[in-house]
Amino acid sequence: MQSTAMSPPMILPQAAFPASRPRRLRRTAALRAMVAESTLSPADLIWPLFVRDGEGIEEPVPSMPGVVRRSIDRVVVAAREAEALGIPAVCLFPYTSLANRTADCAEAWNPDNLSNRATRAIKAAVPGLMVMTDVALDPYSDTGHDGFVVGGEIVNDATVEALVKQALAQAEAGVDIIGPSDMMDGRVGAIRAALEAGGHHDVAIMSYSAKYASAFYGPFREAVGAGDALKGDKKTYQMDPANSDEALRLVARDLSEGADMVMVKPGMPYLDICRLARAEFGVPTFAYQVSGEYAMIMAAAQNGWIDGERAMMESLMCFKRAGCDGILSYFAPAAARLLAH
Ligand code: PBG
Repeated sequence: MQSTAMSPPMILPQAAFPASRPRRLRRTAALRAMVAESTLSPADLIWPLFVRDGEGIEEPVPSMPGVVRRSIDRVVVAAREAEALGIPAVCLFPYTSLANRTADCAEAWNPDNLSNRATRAIKAAVPGLMVMTDVALDPYSDTGHDGFVVGGEIVNDATVEALVKQALAQAEAGVDIIGPSDMMDGRVGAIRAALEAGGHHDVAIMSYSAKYASAFYGPFREAVGAGDALKGDKKTYQMDPANSDEALRLVARDLSEGADMVMVKPGMPYLDICRLARAEFGVPTFAYQVSGEYAMIMAAAQNGWIDGERAMMESLMCFKRAGCDGILSYFAPAAARLLAH
């Protein structure tokens, strides 16, 4: 839900003090609400969920206080909670067993892998809730990389073929939104063509178009168990934090290949990119407030150094102000609960 006018009105000359006293409009909560330029609602939020095997399990992720890995039955409980809170979508991330992390990454397109089983369970129990999934090989690779590694290099085209198989298996499981997060070239076009050919005309693609090689993904890699395996970094495929023109080229490229929505990731340090992308293309633009951003706010709050609730709500509103249509955030249920009051 986008409420910010992306072309701000020209700032006309204003009356001088004391005829103009901007504080007049900040005097009461009612006045501030009346003139607020942006709004935040549960409908703006996508809730990332970590899935593991077993039953009745909610296992804490140490570096993300309050976040757990859930067995599928508990994922379904969370999905019901999301729907009750007015959160329109959850995004699934599997914690794959070590045995299923292999060089050929075959578990990625197994119709019965964790992610696909969780999708079916959610769609059966909570059909109105949207399910989004991640397309990338890192949860299934013994290297922790998002693509195949050959001779120390992350190879592009062979990876794209695997990503297409992964995306098709996800579509067949019933996902509403496919989120390619791998940053290989050509993947959006290849996935879109395969979805069309496979009859999955209505599966939307939210491309991780501007995904940066970031230190802020650290806690996530612990959550999905890919951190220990990862050798080196992801700088040959994820973006250089120094670049913004390149982000716009990638958004344009992904849209031309058939992306319906685009994403900027991480979130808070990249609000300028969110702003530029939304203003330039006018398509639904999302930000991912990633694991490290969540961990920083939670850690400071737990130390009593900041007010965690206020920092959470402020950070989410800032995404809306920057022009984002929505935010993927681990804060989704907590924020939606506060917004319900
Ligand atoms: C995997 C993927 C990552 C995240 C989402 N999908 C990690 C990475 O690229 O290493 C990060 C999410 C987060 O940090 O919360 N392709």
